[in-house]
Amino acid sequence: MFAKNLLTQIFHIRYPIIQAPMSPLTTPELVANVSNAGGMGTIAGARMTAEQLTNEIQQVRSLTDKPFGVNLFIPPKQTEISAQMIDSVRKELKRLIAKGKVSDCRIDFDSISVKPPKDLYPEQIEVILKEKVSVLSFTFGYVSDDIIKKCKESNIRLIGTATTAKEAVLLKEKGCDAVCLQGSEAGGHRGSFLTNDLETIEQSTIGLQSLLSQTTQFIDPASYPMIAAGGIMDGAGLVNALTSGASGVQMGTRFLTCHESKQLVPEAHRRLLLEARRNINEVRPTVLTRAYTGKPARGMRTAITDQFREKMMLPWQYQAQLVLPLCKYAAETKQIDFMQLWAGQNYARCEDQSATEIIQQVMREAKEILKRYK
Ligand SMILES: Cc1cc2nc3c(=O)[nH]c(=O)nc-3n(C[C@H](O)[C@H](O)[C@H](O)COP(=O)(O)O)c2cc1C
Repeated sequence: MFAKNLLTQIFHIRYPIIQAPMSPLTTPELVANVSNAGGMGTIAGARMTAEQLTNEIQQVRSLTDKPFGVNLFIPPKQTEISAQMIDSVRKELKRLIAKGKVSDCRIDFDSISVKPPKDLYPEQIEVILKEKVSVLSFTFGYVSDDIIKKCKESNIRLIGTATTAKEAVLLKEKGCDAVCLQGSEAGGHRGSFLTNDLETIEQSTIGLQSLLSQTTQFIDPASYPMIAAGGIMDGAGLVNALTSGASGVQMGTRFLTCHESKQLVPEAHRRLLLEARRNINEVRPTVLTRAYTGKPARGMRTAITDQFREKMMLPWQYQAQLVLPLCKYAAETKQIDFMQLWAGQNYARCEDQSATEIIQQVMREAKEILKRYK
């Protein structure tokens, strides 16, 4: 059925479904099982050292001989942060605790030093080239021409992430083999790179349907594969994407509650995602927030997202150094309102299943819909 699909042809997969990399919640079992089921799994390598990434690739290879991808974050330009900015975030967190909302929290935010993070990207790229993985996908920008050339020489396919038609055209011109169009519904971070973080919230939050429609004005979907991401949870989402110009889909949130993710997704997070399906009153709204990491990302609304609304925040890779210790403590003590609860807008369609069941179900639903319109 998908033999002539651009995505399945170029990436040598059976079904046009990619499991979104979800750093740091993606297990090797998830990646391998999606690939074994005919889709394409993706290692979320962004926060891994060279050694961790090599181990992860080897683990996935021990579980599947099918193609899979590795995803990295393009490093940001250096940003200046002042002691005053750090202090202001510390104050906000102390206010939150002082309101008495986080019980028994003894985190001393003054003793957490905020430092420039280590740039892991050069060592990660070395691993990608050495291991000759099938696919390198990336977000927050694009890889240099030199790396693109080396990937092409090693037959490593490239997928870039775009949140606007302009970003998609640029990634195609750079030489990406496919572009992932990330609609504003998507869970996790916005992949935007032609706007700064404030402009991203204002200008780069385009719904998937509009993003597909706009992009197909500039890129011919019959000759270039585009991958739709954001809110796709079932066969209807897949069919919708295919009939709107995409060659396939990238699904993230749906895999957060699958059996293979249990080990890394905190139980309270998993339960919230699943309860929404049964009880409409359990559906928390999602928000686009910079509160956790300094970069716009979509997750469920919490006391943390409320506290930082319109407040001073540290840039990407700094804000998390102060906020994540609180989230970690909240996850350990099951205080949901202070956890990091990443989710796409359509999360109420999550189910308690294996990755294989998800792929099979989505394909079955899509085929049934297509049959109806034959
Ligand atoms: C928990 C979580 C973590 C994510 N981490 C990454 C990542 O490491 N790299 C990346 O390119 N995209 C990441 N994304 C975004 C996905 O690639 C994708 O755009 C998104 O999941 C699609 O929307 P959906 O969640 O509604 O399916 C993440 C998404 C989630 C939900």
